[in-house]
Amino acid sequence: MHVRDAKPQDLRPVYEIAQDSFKDPYPLRLIRHIHSTNPEGFLIAEIGGSIVGYLIGVVRWGNVGHILAIAVDKSHRRKGVGTALMINALERLRKHGASQIKLEVRASNEGAQKFYERLGFESQEVVPSYYSDGEAAISVKYKFD
Ligand SMILES: CC(C)(COP(=O)(O)OP(=O)(O)OC[C@H]1O[C@@H](n2cnc3c(N)ncnc32)[C@H](O)[C@@H]1OP(=O)(O)O)[C@@H](O)C(=O)NCCC(=O)NCCS
Repeated sequence: MHVRDAKPQDLRPVYEIAQDSFKDPYPLRLIRHIHSTNPEGFLIAEIGGSIVGYLIGVVRWGNVGHILAIAVDKSHRRKGVGTALMINALERLRKHGASQIKLEVRASNEGAQKFYERLGFESQEVVPSYYSDGEAAISVKYKFD
C-alpha cells in the first residue's frame, strides 16, 4: 500500500468510498472543488492500483490543522490503511505550519473514536447538533510534542 497525492481521476472512487462510509457524504462536485482548491491536503491510499482510502486535511488560521474527512473502503479496514493516511497527513500538516490537529467525529462512531485515541488524539468537547441530522459531534485534538 502507498499513500500519495490525489489526482483528478481518483475523485470518483473517492466519492464511492465516501458514499459507502458516511451518512452524509460530500457530493462529487464538492469533492472536486476541495481537491482543486486544496490539492496538497488531499491524500489517497492505493493498493495494487486500486484506491482503498482517502483523507482530506487543511490548515486554518495559520496553525490549526483540520481533518475534514477520512475513510477506508469497507473491505480494507483494520489493515492499517487509515493509520498510514493519518500519519502521512499529520506530517504534512505539521510541515504546513500546524501545531495542533482537530477533527469532529459522530458521537455514535465508537470505532473511529477508538481509531483516533490509538493515534494519540484526545477528546475535547461534545458539540450538540453538529451534524445535519441533529447528532452531536465529539471534537478531538492532536498536539505535536
Ligand atoms: C475510521 C477508519 C478510517 C479507520 O480506518 P482503518 O484503516 O480501518 O484503521 P486502522 O486499520 O489503521 O486501525 C488502527 C487501529 O485503530 C483502532 N480501530 C480502527 N477501527 C476500529 C473499529 N471499528 N473499532 C475499534 N477500534 C478500531 C484499532 O485499535 C486498530 O488497530 P487493530 O486493527 O490492530 O485493532 C475506518 O473505519 C472508516 O473508514 N470508517 C468509516 C468512515 C469514518 O467513520 N471516518 C471517520 C469519520 S470522523
